[in-house]
Amino acid sequence: MSQPDHFSLHFAAPLLALTLLLTLPLAWLLLMPAYARAARRGGKGFGHAGDATIRTDAAQTILEANPAAAAMFGTSVAAMRGAALDKFIPRDLRTLGQQQTVGHFGDTGVNLRMMGRRAVDHAVSGLKANGARFPLEGTIASVDEDGQTVYTIVLRDITARKQVHEQLERSFSQLRQLSATLQSIREEERKHIARELHDDLGQLLATLRLDLTLLGKLAGAAPANARILDNMDGLIVTAITSLRRIASNLRPRALDEGGLYFALQSLRQDFIQRHPVNVELLADETELTLDDAYSTVIYRIVQESLTNIARHAEARNVTVALHRVDSELAIEIQDDGRGIEDSDMDKATSFGLLGMRERVWGLHGTISIGANEGGAGGTRIDIALPLPAERT
Ligand SMILES: Nc1ncnc2c1ncn2[C@@H]1O[C@H](COP(=O)(O)OP(=O)(O)O)[C@@H](O)[C@H]1O
Ligand SMILES: [Mg+2]
Repeated sequence: MSQPDHFSLHFAAPLLALTLLLTLPLAWLLLMPAYARAARRGGKGFGHAGDATIRTDAAQTILEANPAAAAMFGTSVAAMRGAALDKFIPRDLRTLGQQQTVGHFGDTGVNLRMMGRRAVDHAVSGLKANGARFPLEGTIASVDEDGQTVYTIVLRDITARKQVHEQLERSFSQLRQLSATLQSIREEERKHIARELHDDLGQLLATLRLDLTLLGKLAGAAPANARILDNMDGLIVTAITSLRRIASNLRPRALDEGGLYFALQSLRQDFIQRHPVNVELLADETELTLDDAYSTVIYRIVQESLTNIARHAEARNVTVALHRVDSELAIEIQDDGRGIEDSDMDKATSFGLLGMRERVWGLHGTISIGANEGGAGGTRIDIALPLPAERT
């Protein structure tokens, strides 16, 4: 059984070296920006360059185009030579987004980048011979040749990149929807189990306890019996208490019985009993009559924030403020603890803050998590949740 291990150990290193040797030139080709390669090549071998390259004069008449450029525009080198650049990169398509585009490159000198900040907001579109438009990215360099300014334009078709980008965006938004759906299914299930526990099992235990009391009266009680009955009663009380605790961990009853404001009050009460931290809750009950989806999200956010403060912050004072501003609910949770680092928010195994963000985004809100202003230390979470118009 040891032979394959031995084999792999022996051959892995040289194999790796060989692979690296073979892939390095490819990586260089992929990673090195086109214009840098064009610059290295200088004027030599223009017609055979791998990148689509066009040379124009100052009037933007094409002097030369290489086969790659002809292939990109779906035409031939001969058809491009002598044509106006406008035919392939139409002027009206060049001025989207940026003022300084090809039309003005004569004024701006060397290495004007035609593209926008990112590939997605490319400023230039190409026009193929068959009329199809496609996104382009490229660079321009100007050279003086015999007193004439000649422009070398290196182009890259970014259709594929754009498609990948769009696919990524699509799957990103699907994931977000999935996450929102899972969250609400989870809440529904918790609510359901909590209700079953309370109504079903809770009622059974209560009845059992009553029966036990009756039995105690009927038994005419020898002291030994009375002790057993007492013991049983104690056990039933413990069971009822744990059941209530488990059910309210699953779903706070206050949320269903008294609404969000009341639920937050009891969350606060519970928290300050268990932790040496002051918690101030600034909210107006009338502003917090929201439907179940909103109440649950807000409750879970405040709950997670308080749990984090207890676990990580070493804070003494916490403020939780909820206020309506126009049709939005502004939620601020501040503590004066040790503060949060940017890297804390990307911990691979931490899902509390991530879940918080997902919940907010699921309701089309915005959230920012960071340090308190003015270098005072501590953490601050700011959330703005747009509320539907018909809510009162
Ligand atoms: N109020 C806070 N003060 C200081 N650090 C915090 C606070 N809240 C969160 N953090 C940091 O952010 C990290 C990520 O939090 P979270 O996503 O809730 O995961 P978890 O609580 O499971 O660690 C925590 O591990 C902690 O280091
Ligand atoms: Mg947490």
